[in-house]
Amino acid sequence: MTLTQYLADRMAKIDAELNRLVPAESVRPSTIHRAMRHSLFAGGKRIRPVLLMAAAEAIVGDAPGAVTPACSLELIHTYSLIHDDLPALDNDDFRRGVPTCHTVFGEAMAILAGDALLTRAFQVLAEADEIPAARRIELVRELAVASGTVEAMIGGQVEDLEAERQPVNADRLHYIHRSKTGALLRASVVMGGIYAGADEAAAAGLGEYGRRIGLAFQIVDDILDVTADTVTLGKTAGKDVAQGKATFPALFGLKESRRQADEHYQAALAAIEPLGEQALRLREIAERVVTRTA
Ligand code: IPE
Ligand code: IPE
Ligand code: MG
Ligand code: MG
Ligand code: MG
Repeated sequence: MTLTQYLADRMAKIDAELNRLVPAESVRPSTIHRAMRHSLFAGGKRIRPVLLMAAAEAIVGDAPGAVTPACSLELIHTYSLIHDDLPALDNDDFRRGVPTCHTVFGEAMAILAGDALLTRAFQVLAEADEIPAARRIELVRELAVASGTVEAMIGGQVEDLEAERQPVNADRLHYIHRSKTGALLRASVVMGGIYAGADEAAAAGLGEYGRRIGLAFQIVDDILDVTADTVTLGKTAGKDVAQGKATFPALFGLKESRRQADEHYQAALAAIEPLGEQALRLREIAERVVTRTA
């Protein structure tokens, strides 16, 4: 199976599971379920849930049940995007190729849709009773920590906003990127290891791989904001310069940013080398992270 076929297969499974896990539009109150589904099924790349599944597969070979904890990541990620796009944050009107949640449903409903996706993520993990309870608690903890304020998603979003139109040094930029985006991507890989019962050495390798590709992913996101167009990205290009965001291209230039992304890619590969052949998909996904054009 090629990587493209693998991704299509896993994405179809993830979408079917998300559809099962989120209340139908007809369920009262219909507005919130329509708003949640509007953003959830608009066509994201599903990189976080795919990473959880690929990490679990790297440990145990086959891991079809990993699709359920994988969906908890996509629920959190989609909530973070809905809130990231709000007028009070990045003020974006285009996301995943469609108008943003608040543009269609209004700000109040978009805030609530984000809240609801966030809450649902932890319900999904709590109810995944085919996973041994001790592992379920570890999964909940990992996801909560990565979504939180300390070296984690919300903390990164805070400093991202505070750094707008401010001079930033490499340390601060690194903090923003490893927190706002890196933490959840790293958690995706780590959660795959937890689900599959990875031993200490394998878990450490997965953690380092996740940390590296998490950083590379946001560096490439910054690069694409400069080099790609809005239709290709499915979100407004050129926003970072317009808003004076702290980005890798702004601080280091495009060429050096690409070099740093590649360095993280190489280090990610080295970290999972001990996992051998079973980590093929993780290696391929890492390459895709740094070579992607959207
Ligand atoms: C966008 O994430 C926001 C960042 C953290 C860079 P993705 O690029 O994974 O967005 P989707 O899920 O494919 O829409
Ligand atoms: C978003 O970073 C990170 C999170 C949503 C947590 P960006 O603001 O760079 O993401 P895009 O470019 O809007 O997708
Ligand atoms: Mg942002
Ligand atoms: Mg944004
Ligand atoms: Mg961006």
